[in-house]
Amino acid sequence: MIDRYLVIGNPIAHSKSPQIHAQFVQQTGEAMVYERLLAPLDGFNAAVHDFIAHGGRGANVTLPFKLEAFALAEQRSERAQAAGAVNTLVFDHGRIIGDNTDGVGLVRDISVNAGVAITGKRVLLVGAGGAAQGVILPLLEQSPQSITLCNRTQRKAEDLVRQFAHPVLQARAMDTLNDAYDIVINATSAGLSGDLPPVPDSVFSTNTFAYDMIYAAQATTFMQLAQSQGAQVRDGLGMLVEQAAESFYVWRGVRPDTGPVYQSLRAQV
Ligand code: ATR
Repeated sequence: MIDRYLVIGNPIAHSKSPQIHAQFVQQTGEAMVYERLLAPLDGFNAAVHDFIAHGGRGANVTLPFKLEAFALAEQRSERAQAAGAVNTLVFDHGRIIGDNTDGVGLVRDISVNAGVAITGKRVLLVGAGGAAQGVILPLLEQSPQSITLCNRTQRKAEDLVRQFAHPVLQARAMDTLNDAYDIVINATSAGLSGDLPPVPDSVFSTNTFAYDMIYAAQATTFMQLAQSQGAQVRDGLGMLVEQAAESFYVWRGVRPDTGPVYQSLRAQV
């Protein structure tokens, strides 16, 4: 039986993962298939077990199941533990292993694809939900000078800082931010409704690299604000491709070439 993988979510029709992984498979010649699965909102665990029984070797997990995948995993990587969520499952001889490749995807897109080193930099991370939590450990592993966390609801940023308890990680209230950062990352979902997270313009300068974890055909409102202050900007499409590549690597031990896949997705967005 051929090795089977899929992405599981609800909704799932919009997911670009099958297309991304199909290109990885074509590139690497790995003997595998990658599909998509719509699981009922109350049927995640049953869907996973059914998939394992039918030859499933691994799965990507998307909204709203990343916390259920975390709970289902019998063993978790350190980065999944830190993220508090699982986006990659490995089915290994009856064991369910949970991993999280989102943060590494972000780090690789910034440091390799955009060519912006994180090491030694002052980083501002905007947001304190699941998306923000998922990237903190991989960002810390790059040894930035500091990571400042800010969020509309400040208490949530403070809770996350306490949870990680790392000397370079600190929380600040939005209205006390008064100087520019080297790297500003938008990990809020505000842009999905066209909103801006309430960061002051002063966090951007002409030396700032601003990254929005969401992506769209046009510059997001966050990217437009950053650009208006002279910052260099990038959206989250590269992160999407890189987290997929890291999952592929976890499953197959082969690292696909993400450049052409990014280019073909960009042409469609
Ligand atoms: P995700 O998994 O995308 O992080 P989440 O856990 O619901 O989703 O977190 C959403 C994040 O976006 C939070 O940081 C949220 O801020 P609050 O904690 O104050 O709710 C932020 N967010 C969403 N909409 C926003 C808006 N319109 N303005 C500012 N922040 C917003």
